[in-house]
Amino acid sequence: MIRSVVLGYGAALPKRVVPNKELESLVETSDDWIVQRTGIRQRYIAGDGETSASLGEQAARAALDRAGLTPADIDLVIVATSTPDNTFPATAVNIQNRLGMTHGYAFDVQAVCTGFVYAVATADAHLRAGLARRAIVIGAETFSRILDWTDRTTCVLFGDGAGAIVLEAQEGEGTIADRGVLTAHLRSDGSHKDKLYVDGGPSSTGTVGHLRMEGREVFKHAVGMITDVIEAAFESTGTTAEDLDWLVPHQANRRIIDGSAKKLGIPPEKVVVTVDLHGNTSAASIPLALSVAADDGRIQKGDLVMLEAMGGGFTWGALLIRW
Ligand code: ACO
Repeated sequence: MIRSVVLGYGAALPKRVVPNKELESLVETSDDWIVQRTGIRQRYIAGDGETSASLGEQAARAALDRAGLTPADIDLVIVATSTPDNTFPATAVNIQNRLGMTHGYAFDVQAVCTGFVYAVATADAHLRAGLARRAIVIGAETFSRILDWTDRTTCVLFGDGAGAIVLEAQEGEGTIADRGVLTAHLRSDGSHKDKLYVDGGPSSTGTVGHLRMEGREVFKHAVGMITDVIEAAFESTGTTAEDLDWLVPHQANRRIIDGSAKKLGIPPEKVVVTVDLHGNTSAASIPLALSVAADDGRIQKGDLVMLEAMGGGFTWGALLIRW
């Protein structure tokens, strides 16, 4: 049985760090409010020349280095982003070009904060179907460019960045001891599309638009959706919370992360939290968190790692990976 095995990971952040305190001069807010309600202490904001493609390229190069590979070894590039450099072509082909690749194929996946989970699941399906042998999956976002910086209910929550992993198709035994992606569970429900959206687009207004969110509504649905899809991942693999080494959630809000872990019986010491450092970086948050926890030695080869996310759409999903 073919498994998509993680060979490397990488991350990239803009140069400029913006602590909560700095936002107090922009909107009526406070470091205390932001920390208490969200757990966020700072975020990185892209400057001139820093874009989803440039950050994605940096993360991809870091992941390739760790894997001991070069762009010549890759034949599939998937980018999860809701903040592409251009309406088209895809940010993935932009990054493919930046990497000097004229072979293979590249495309974007747009599932907002669940984008990285969707993108890894898509890459896994392509690798297992034999369409490609090695994929680089990137989550890259510059949400700062679609924020309404006069709206305190949203502008304090998000940040910019990118993360990537390299996957390779390898023969496995077909058991949960195999390294690689063990299962993927994806969901969406467009009846919630007006609770978290961007009020512009090429076909509707001809503008880029700004992010709009009914925060309380998102919050209300988040824990239930996340736990449902994680339970589906446990069930389909015959695993339980006790088998898990790490939960690496989408980093939107500390309270959502803690609430989901508690409901699932996953102890806090098994949960990777980076929302304090990066804010909500949408599709980039999971690979950024993976990079932090793999760099500091928490996530080790062979660990059982659950990734989960929920975001605009609503979309939500979970992936169980033997790292
Ligand atoms: N600073 C100070 N006060 C604020 C701020 C702020 N930045 N933002 C809102 N407030 C005020 C509100 O106006 C409100 O005041 P009022 O009581 O006088 O009306 C009060 O704080 C409480 O507001 P709530 O919205 O009830 O606050 P809540 O505890 O729900 O926290 C938050 C708001 C953090 C947005 C929360 O609802 C949340 O995290 N929701 C989920 C959002 C999320 O995770 N989104 C990302 C999903 S992933 C994706 O796809 C992008």
